[in-house]
Order: sequence, then structure tokens, then C-alpha cells
Amino acid sequence: MNSKVPQSNSQLEPITTPPDAEDVSERGSAVELASPELGHVIQEGRMSRRDLLKNVAALGVVALVGERLADPTVPEITRHVVPMRNLKERVRVVQLSDLHRSWCVSDLFVAQAVDLANAQSPDIVALTGDFVTKSASYAISCAAQLKRLTPKIGTYAIPGNHDYWCDDGLGMPRVAEELAGIGIPMLVNKAFRLDSGLWFVGLDDIWAGAPKPQMIPLLPKGEPVLAITHNPSVYLYMTHYECTVLAGHTHGGQINVPYFTRKHFGKMPYLRGWYKGEAPHARLYVSRGLGTVHIPVRINSRPEIGVFDFVPA
Ligand SMILES: [Fe+2]
Repeated sequence: MNSKVPQSNSQLEPITTPPDAEDVSERGSAVELASPELGHVIQEGRMSRRDLLKNVAALGVVALVGERLADPTVPEITRHVVPMRNLKERVRVVQLSDLHRSWCVSDLFVAQAVDLANAQSPDIVALTGDFVTKSASYAISCAAQLKRLTPKIGTYAIPGNHDYWCDDGLGMPRVAEELAGIGIPMLVNKAFRLDSGLWFVGLDDIWAGAPKPQMIPLLPKGEPVLAITHNPSVYLYMTHYECTVLAGHTHGGQINVPYFTRKHFGKMPYLRGWYKGEAPHARLYVSRGLGTVHIPVRINSRPEIGVFDFVPA
């Protein structure tokens, strides 16, 4: 853990609120907790031919009746006011997740996301992984756009599984290098404290890396904690910590139709939105992310930029 800061450098739509925000009493889902072994990897299920045909049929129906549900090109700005105990002053964090710069996510799309993020006047920009798909070479153009981010304090990143998996599993150092080159550090199992008293923690990816959520209770007791990670499954090990976690990874389902999504993400405990933990003020937010993977299609899962105002409780 680092206590030194690695320094770097309205839209429309619904206002969503965390489960324990002042103006909302019951939203989100209580988390059913098993006691999984740390490091256990929750993988997606295999699909039979019959299931595949059902999914294709379901997608066909959605395509016929729900074309307005799909819009992979225009991000939605979601806004969240999150009270935190012992926070001294407001901190605005803008989350960009799952850019997936690749053949199916253009440079223009990433540029648009950067412009929208800057328009929110963030104190911090949190980049929650999956910068590229397949090839680390896309990190060059991705970084060229991310370089234009203008947060007051800094931009911090953590890697996603696709950053590890690119270039046949060898690409993560290059992705990290491109980000470091523009002053954005990868906060892999590191933490630092802001002047507002907020501890900002980066946790590694649970599928391809080695996250250390156990570092959270080692931070000074009673001080507010914000953790960023890629895959929300790591939250299974964190629900008893008083902290807020921002994650991505799921793309909100990307192809979000009832049968397909349940089959594909059936073993994923968290898909999108807010989830409540066991400890007071323990909560997880899962972003729908921005890019797409495999095919440039989203259905009922619009790209998202999250704007989080952490305020004194
Ligand atoms: Fe992703």
C-alpha cells in the first residue's frame, strides 16, 4: 500500500441514488453472502446449441420490437450523491469504464467520452479497466485521448481482464506503460489519502490479476474509503467493509435481454447499478461502461459515464 499520492496530471436521463443516500431508503439489492475463497474465479457459463438458438431468437424479437432500446454511441450521464462519514468536503469523481478501444470502438467514441467527462468538472477521473480489446497497440490512441482529461486532482486507473488478456496475455505492461506516459498511474493494490480525508484505493482485477481487498481494513479506522476495481465480483469479499466500490466489467449485460443476459451472466453476482453491503455505508456501484466487446452492439444497456458526488454525511 502506498500512502504517497501518485500524482498525475447535463445531461438528461435519470438520477440514480445509492441505497443509503439521504433521500432514498430502500433501493438496490441486499447482497447474499457466501464465504468464497479469495481468488476464486467466477467464470461465465458455456452455452449449448439449443441455448444459442434461443438467444438468437430472443435477439431477433428484440431487434424487431425494440430498436430504440439500443444506442451504442451516445453515453448517458448518471448522477449519484453519496454521503460519507468523516469526509471533510465534497469530492466529485467521474468514472469511465470499459472503453475497449478496438476495431469496434472508435477513436471518436473515446474522444466523445473524454469531452463529456471534462464537462462534468471532476476532481478525480477513475478509469476502471478494459482500455483495449485484443491488442495493446490500441492503448496508444486510447491514451492520446485520455491525455485530454482535465480533473482538478488527477486521473487514476486499474486494469481490466482484457488489458491482461490482450496480445495473448502479454499486453498489460504495454497498456500500463502508455497510461504512465500520459501521467495516469495504475493503482494496483495501492491507496492514497486526499486532503478531504477520502482514501482512494485501487484493486487489481479478480479474473486476471490478484486483488487485495484485505488492505481496506488496514486503513485508519473511521476514515472514508473509495475503492475502484474492474470486476465487481471482488465485492463478495468486501461487503463487511465500510467503503464504497466503483466497478465495471459487465457492460450492464451489453446485450441486455432477459433470457440471454440470465444465461450469460447467471453466475455474476452483480450486473449494473447499486448494491448494498452488510456494513453501514457499504455499497457497490457497477457501471454499464462505455465500449463494446465482440460486436459493436448494445441492447437496453446504454453506455454510461458515472458522476459521483461524495459529500460529508
Ligand atoms: Fe469490459
